[in-house]
Amino acid sequence: MKNSRLDHLFDYPFQRLATLLADVEPPAGLKPLLMHLGEPQLPQPDFVARTLDETQDLWNRYPSARGTAEFRDAAAGWLSRRYRLPQGMIEPARQLLPLPGTKEGIFQMAQLAVPGPEDWPDGKQPAVLMSNPTYHVYKGAAVMSGAEPVLVPATAENNFLPDFEGVSADILARTALIYLCNPSNPQGTVANQEYLSRLIGLARRYDFIIAFDECYAEIYRGDPPTGALEACAASGGSLDNVAVFHSLSKRSSGAGLRSGFVVGAPELMDAFYMLRSTGGAVVPLPILAASAALWREDTHAEQIRAHYEKLFDLAERKLGNRTGFYKPPAGFFLWLDVGDGEAVARDLWRDYAVKTIPGAYFSYPDPETGKNPGRSYIRVALVHDLQDAEEGLTRIAECLGA
Ligand SMILES: Cc1ncc(COP(=O)(O)O)c(C=O)c1O
Repeated sequence: MKNSRLDHLFDYPFQRLATLLADVEPPAGLKPLLMHLGEPQLPQPDFVARTLDETQDLWNRYPSARGTAEFRDAAAGWLSRRYRLPQGMIEPARQLLPLPGTKEGIFQMAQLAVPGPEDWPDGKQPAVLMSNPTYHVYKGAAVMSGAEPVLVPATAENNFLPDFEGVSADILARTALIYLCNPSNPQGTVANQEYLSRLIGLARRYDFIIAFDECYAEIYRGDPPTGALEACAASGGSLDNVAVFHSLSKRSSGAGLRSGFVVGAPELMDAFYMLRSTGGAVVPLPILAASAALWREDTHAEQIRAHYEKLFDLAERKLGNRTGFYKPPAGFFLWLDVGDGEAVARDLWRDYAVKTIPGAYFSYPDPETGKNPGRSYIRVALVHDLQDAEEGLTRIAECLGA
């Protein structure tokens, strides 16, 4: 016996990439450049290792699913600085939970939001909405919670912002959850405050939850992207129907630290605490201490951001004349329209030893048109040092004839 929902899971994008490139050998003698993965390559600030060292006597202690007051206050302090929140808007002890990276919490949010069959609205299967392209975890979470994943196009035509308000009233009436990645992966789009406020209004009207995935909030060029909490603050401060996820993986180049948090409406976070203390991984105390130090400190994040800015300037110099190039306001991906993403990803690996990932692996065919909105794209992660990034971009430009 097994859970039949597993049959509706699908290959992880990187597994599909491995299959695509299984019979392709990069040229010997060229350094392979792995630009398919959004894994920041910059070093962490020294104080991370120092804090882990100073707290090593804590490894043998079970942490609480609520983390420590030090962690919660540091994370809430960063939120207040970053989003200029009014004092007292968030009660960290009740509304903020640490996560071992945000992926697991994002996945679990569907278990929290999606009702069981006995509570289905008018007996109809609940829906979980997300953009198309999407982060595969949102779709997997919808599938495993028993909901129907509904993908809403986020294409160049709508500035890569899914029109959730345009979804039919029938679907909205059975919507349990919307996932919104802002700034978005892979396109690097930033939703403005009006968009976020309207979305929150929609959630309250139809009484569903919105999970705002803001793990790219600190990687931007120009003005800092607004966030869901800022939108909540602007409309009186209530977090009803809202959960916001933040991570150190991108902000602090800490993907391996596995550290993030979720903040949201009090009752929602009470329920999330119950779920997580039942079956969620807790964050070890030394990691919480190092994470608190990172959330308290902004200089390293500014330096990391300045580095990405240089990489995007470089990309503009190398590829700026090419049709299909645009410099995204946020995130560290190039979302390049190259005509046939799979063919170009194979060419780049075979002839230039540059690994990228076809856009089609982040998106799904539109049920009406059958068209996959990511088909013509590749995603290029700009996460390396200047030298490797320059080399990779030069090779991509050569391959594309830019
Ligand atoms: C859109 C998006 N959300 C969430 C995550 C998860 O990040 P983490 O679990 O490292 O916090 C990632 C990681 O790549 C991502 O791209």
